Amino acid sequence: MKKIRISPSILSADFLNLYDSIKEIENAGADEIHYDVMDGMFVPNITFGLPILDSIRAITNLKIDVHMMVEEPVRFINEFERSGADIFTIHYEACENIEDSIKKIKNSRMEIGISIKPNTNVKSILPYLESVDRILIMTVEPGFGGQAFNENMVSKISTIKNYLIEKNIDIDIAVDGGIKVENSKKVIDAGANVLISGTGIFQYDKGAKSAISELRNSDKQ
Ligand code: DX5
Ligand code: ZN
Repeated sequence: MKKIRISPSILSADFLNLYDSIKEIENAGADEIHYDVMDGMFVPNITFGLPILDSIRAITNLKIDVHMMVEEPVRFINEFERSGADIFTIHYEACENIEDSIKKIKNSRMEIGISIKPNTNVKSILPYLESVDRILIMTVEPGFGGQAFNENMVSKISTIKNYLIEKNIDIDIAVDGGIKVENSKKVIDAGANVLISGTGIFQYDKGAKSAISELRNSDKQ
């Protein structure tokens, strides 16, 4: 079984004290940082872009996964690479030519993530899985933090996991949206190994440190 990685989504952090939030999750054992970039086109919301990424890069060595909820994200490969992103996760639905987009990211130093929205059929991305480092299954409609986990996505995770085993493809399965201590066992059992969580970590009543350790160990409960 792949090691479970916990990736706090900065979207739910305290923006006035971002330094403290990042040090808090670093000390709590986070494996990476999830950085949600929204363009107001692909999703009906806008978040943050390059300057804030530069500032975060300057204060942490954690891997940074940029989740590009942006139309034609290939337009920004060079900029995000320069700002220190480690994983460039694009949406299948946002790319006119997904094969070409993957090829372009491959020419960068960044790892490649490919994401699908809840209503996108799994079959459409299967042909690309051997060319990427990570599949990100959205467990809510992308655009906002704090939404409820979509239970129907559990079988989608299993379908992808089974396909990867059958084809002997060794990539990460990440899940994003409504992931909390209460449902993390379910997604891990289905095959997910990267747990992205915003409110589930930053708004957890026992604090971020407990959230990260409980998320990581939820399959042992
Ligand atoms: C939603 C974003 C998520 C979001 C998750 O579109 O992609 O990364 O921050 O937040 P929670 O964990 O609160 O659903
Ligand atoms: Zn995200």
